[in-house]
Amino acid sequence: MDKTFDLDTLAVRAGILRSQFNEHAEGLYLTSSFVFESAAQAAARFSGEEDGFVYGRFSNPTISMLQERLAALEGGEACVATSSGMAAILAAAMALMKAGDHIVASQGIFGATQQLFGILERFGVATTFVAPNDAAAFKAAVRPQTRLVFVETPSNPLTEVFDIAALAAVAHEAGALLAVDNCFCSPALQRPLDLGADLVIHSATKYLDGQGRVLGGAVIGRKALTDEVLKFLRTAGPSLSPFNAWVILKGVETLRLRMDAQSAAALEIARWLERQPQVARVYYPGLPSHPQHALAMRQQKTGGAIVSFEVKGGRAEAWKVVDATRLISITANLGDTKSTLTHPATTTHGRITPEARIAAGIQESLLRMAVGLESVADLQADLARGLALI
Ligand SMILES: Cc1ncc(COP(=O)(O)O)c(C=O)c1O
Repeated sequence: MDKTFDLDTLAVRAGILRSQFNEHAEGLYLTSSFVFESAAQAAARFSGEEDGFVYGRFSNPTISMLQERLAALEGGEACVATSSGMAAILAAAMALMKAGDHIVASQGIFGATQQLFGILERFGVATTFVAPNDAAAFKAAVRPQTRLVFVETPSNPLTEVFDIAALAAVAHEAGALLAVDNCFCSPALQRPLDLGADLVIHSATKYLDGQGRVLGGAVIGRKALTDEVLKFLRTAGPSLSPFNAWVILKGVETLRLRMDAQSAAALEIARWLERQPQVARVYYPGLPSHPQHALAMRQQKTGGAIVSFEVKGGRAEAWKVVDATRLISITANLGDTKSTLTHPATTTHGRITPEARIAAGIQESLLRMAVGLESVADLQADLARGLALI
């Protein structure tokens, strides 16, 4: 499909493969393998001499449709779908790194990603976590062995925004690749490849599905890079299920509408939180008080739909707000149409060391809200009940 179509068009039409029945909606192919006409065809398919589907660990029409659609939305050449967002990060690392290589990553990344980079140390891949948010600090952390620069922007949970173009320049000067976890924005709000990134990583579990139903992930970029990721996937097997791919395909159709509506609601809630006397600080890229507000407004279409905030006090006060909710879900997921509230220090970031948590700026008083599609007034009332107890 012509990739110059607008995102709205690509989101509902890119990648469609129709069977002999000419179904209108995307077909769900629940099959673990594909039948060959002959031994010779089986051999040709396995060797790659002939195009076609082979075995569910590495190819399936429903997954191909999703991969094509995500590549089109991100403006990338190709995409490899994976079983989760973490599987996408693992697959990219395993495909592109070897013992002796080095990663430069921002300090404030998702807890599991920090832990995964810790596991890679056992296999000879070292990571330097950079705290200051500027390209010079990243440049200073680069070594001759640096192969990958990895950031999340905005970051989870503090919504720190990184200058993708500046970091792409740092990575490329060092002969490294820049990978951007685009989970918080999705391609509806930000396209890192247009700004010079080499790889976009997704937890499709979040906004791409958008309705909290399935896990999934994706790596998008130049075909030469995603082919390496596919080689790892077809051998190691962290493959997406066709059912999950189908659910995500249908989720992506409403991505832009959801991101716009949820971002508008998040901005209202962020402004309201800033006015609450029990709130010490609000982290939302759409607010002028956010340290990278100007950059966010240049790089992203909106501030996104995640608002983090510190209450006055510590864990006890933060938990009061969580426990007083009757509407907002107390759950670790984000990117759902149902709003969610999380206490990062004891959940998503609970397994990293207290030192690393403090270095990443994740206080006991911090809460992360992923704003959904409910009425803003109802959400504010739900938060106000807990804030009044502080
Ligand atoms: C920014 C970010 N990246 C990656 C992941 C991992 O995704 P998954 O849960 O699909 O493995 C998450 C999950 O919360 C996330 O927030």
